[in-house]
Amino acid sequence: MSTPFRINCLVPDLPAPQEVLPFLQEMHENRWYSNFGPLVKRFEAELTAFLERENGAEGCHVATFSSATTALELALKAMNLPAGSNVLVPAITFPATALVVINAGLTPVLADVDRETWELSPAIANAALAQDDYAAVIPVAAFGRPVESVVWSAFQKETGVPVILDVAAALGQQDIHKDLTYCFSLHATKPFGVGEGGLLVSGDEALITLSRSLSNFGFQGSAGVVQQTGTNAKFAEYFAAVGLVQTARWKEVSGRRQAVLDQYLEGLKKVGNTVTLQQGTGDFIPAVFPVYVPGKAEALVARMNQASIQTRRWYLPPLYDHPALAHLPYADKETDTPFPASEELRNGLVGLPFHAFLSNEDIEEICDLVAEVAA
Ligand SMILES: Cc1ncc(COP(=O)(O)O)c(C=O)c1O
Repeated sequence: MSTPFRINCLVPDLPAPQEVLPFLQEMHENRWYSNFGPLVKRFEAELTAFLERENGAEGCHVATFSSATTALELALKAMNLPAGSNVLVPAITFPATALVVINAGLTPVLADVDRETWELSPAIANAALAQDDYAAVIPVAAFGRPVESVVWSAFQKETGVPVILDVAAALGQQDIHKDLTYCFSLHATKPFGVGEGGLLVSGDEALITLSRSLSNFGFQGSAGVVQQTGTNAKFAEYFAAVGLVQTARWKEVSGRRQAVLDQYLEGLKKVGNTVTLQQGTGDFIPAVFPVYVPGKAEALVARMNQASIQTRRWYLPPLYDHPALAHLPYADKETDTPFPASEELRNGLVGLPFHAFLSNEDIEEICDLVAEVAA
């Protein structure tokens, strides 16, 4: 990825072509390039075993899609929620979280996020449910911070409102509960990237089967008839080839990311408590690395630019400030300031470079500049 910066913010850690070649050769010999081919099936089986081994996904079913966006949209369609009904989403997220709700014929309702986790919390969702009816809730693993499956599972049980988790960036980090439905991204910018792709993981086999059929136009059974209108959102053999290598490389990839995180946690000690990390950072490896420097986001971005270090304002502006989403309803209807935490975060969150190719000197330099601006 070529940018004008000396230190880039995000550099994908994907397999080299020669590692993928044997799988591409196999694909070519098969003469099978899409439509649930042998490599896709093998990749899904390996992911199922991986998620069972690493993240407790016993009894879950896994399906691949062309992206997390299509996966989430088709899962919502497969849930057959009443047309136009409310779906709660956080205001601080990647826009796809709300776009899929609109594309599924439902209404995204925007909620604030928790000040410490920077995520939609069950407490915020419960407050929203006290004011209005919701057909579903979509908590987000913000910046790759895994969501708390146990508490969301309890929320779903207590309220009867289905929870579908947009955990796009948290594959490998996210623990899985079979009562919930998870959507992961395999986009090149994600820690477990293959290029383009998405995954649904759920204990609900019927939901996975229907979502998969909707990714293939809605064809069901061997007769090839459309039972419910779908689209084309299938995962291709080419990406499955990369995925099979990436699954085998995962320990290496996450080891490199852990080393970068450890170096940051050490370097940021000098910054003191003027800079805050997302709650729990260190217990998990984030996908990107936003730091919260209250009121000083712009100053930090400018200082980094000056030093030719790229930063990104991930998930900003909040969804309510995107022109195409500004009309969306808010969850908290009882106040004139429905997004106090999101408003604070927008003035303080800056994504620092975070990838496997940073040197210790790069990280030290970045931490020094953060300390200088935050002081
Ligand atoms: C929270 C979240 N949801 C959804 C997506 C969309 O993923 P994809 O690019 O695989 O469609 C992203 C991608 O960055 C994301 O961060």
